Amino acid sequence: MTASASDRTLDELTLGSEFSLPDLVDRGALGEMARSFHELFGVPLRIFTEEGALLADASGEIALYAYLEGSSKGRHEVQKLINSLKAVDPGDAGEVSLTCFTGATYRVVAITYDSRRIGRMILGPFLSPTLRELPSSLTDVDASLNHQELKKLLEQMPRAREETVAQIARHLKSALDLILFSGHKALLTSSMHLASVKESFRDLKAKNDELQEAYNRLKELDRLKSNFLATVSHELRTPLTSIIGYSEMLKEGIAGEISPEQKEFVQTIHDKGEQLLELIKGLLDLSKLESGTMSLRKSDVQVPQLIEDVAQTLQPAARKKGVKLEHSFDAVPSLWADPDRLRQVLLNLAENALKFTPPDGTVSLSCDSVMMEVEHDEAEGLVLLSNQRPAVAMRVADSGIGIPDGEKERVFDAFYQVDSSSTREAGGTGLGLSIVKRLVDAHDGRVAVEDNDPTGAAFVVTIPCRRATLV
Ligand SMILES: Nc1ncnc2c1ncn2[C@@H]1O[C@H](COP(=O)(O)OP(=O)(O)OP(=O)(O)O)[C@@H](O)[C@H]1O
Ligand SMILES: [Mg+2]
Repeated sequence: MTASASDRTLDELTLGSEFSLPDLVDRGALGEMARSFHELFGVPLRIFTEEGALLADASGEIALYAYLEGSSKGRHEVQKLINSLKAVDPGDAGEVSLTCFTGATYRVVAITYDSRRIGRMILGPFLSPTLRELPSSLTDVDASLNHQELKKLLEQMPRAREETVAQIARHLKSALDLILFSGHKALLTSSMHLASVKESFRDLKAKNDELQEAYNRLKELDRLKSNFLATVSHELRTPLTSIIGYSEMLKEGIAGEISPEQKEFVQTIHDKGEQLLELIKGLLDLSKLESGTMSLRKSDVQVPQLIEDVAQTLQPAARKKGVKLEHSFDAVPSLWADPDRLRQVLLNLAENALKFTPPDGTVSLSCDSVMMEVEHDEAEGLVLLSNQRPAVAMRVADSGIGIPDGEKERVFDAFYQVDSSSTREAGGTGLGLSIVKRLVDAHDGRVAVEDNDPTGAAFVVTIPCRRATLV
């Protein structure tokens, strides 16, 4: 079996190509051409592939053959004729005439392209205009055939001179040549297009594989980094607790009286130790959140209470800085959440708000109930009609320096700070928001930052209510 044109490579199609007639021409167009020639000249016409498959047929039923088929000898002769038409070699000239037992003639013309035979056309049967008598080769087929009938049917055959048919064949060949040429051109163009698409697909696939490999490597590195962070932070915590403990004891004079200046130094050691401990706790939290080993201790949480608590905790620092810290809230449903972690989220956001708001500014904490879109939770085996769920939105807004649009996404990255210059006034390490984001994610919630009106930033944390509260 030969492969179809689209299966072959471009090289095969262009160099020493092995295309067949159906590769090059559209069957419909070929049939159309054959029919119009038949209508124009009245000579039956059939087109075959080199292997003998019929591609176009504009001949209709020939009544004489139908009559002959009625006798077994007649049928045998017709079959013999068909076989010899299939087998006849058109020779070097590419065309040959064959006169059969009925006295009718066929013209067999080879279809060649690029010096290769790819099919044949058979024009006929047609009778010479001069033939009047029944040929004996026809009457001898079977003595039982009715001569009167034979003569009548033979008369129905188209009549044409052999030279005329040869000329028609030449016209046909040149029309077909044109069709073959444009067919070949179209085939090459589409094959080239296909080849180039295949080529770009191969390129893309190779690039994709490389990317996947790079991604896997990065993921592995990320995992190693998290492990490393977790181990180092954990190991740092123990000696640091001793440093803090001993500096506290020194400060309190347990190891003997110390001068005010020494006390001041020890106080600095203590304060910096505490600061370092906070940082280490943050790193530990982050690595636990990244590795998914942080466990949440969930219970019913009343968000207004939480807000009040956070406001109270930060009130002294706000007063010291001269920033107004206010809070307000609507009645909201309770949340099924880890209260310590939610407090940590609000505290981190409120501390940032205070840090980035100059004196005389305002920081406000509030909450209200909203609806939020959640993804279907298949684990619970429920198909909700709507994926909207009641939720509580907590808002921490300030009138501070605000966050430029291009930075709003990045502030949630670990260690990212908008202004990381050495002249930056605000302290911190850039871990707070990345921990906030991960804690909120762990509660299936969302955190976003927007501009506050007229200045400053507003962080909104939305946590969905427990599904059980729906029913
Ligand atoms: N309310 C805010 N107003 C303006 N900028 C903010 C605000 N909150 C956060 N940012 C910007 O986002 C950065 C990241 O915040 P994040 O809380 O992660 O780190 P940090 O506060 O600098 O350090 P850490 O929280 O680890 O002590 C901040 O450094 C700041 O540039
Ligand atoms: Mg912070």
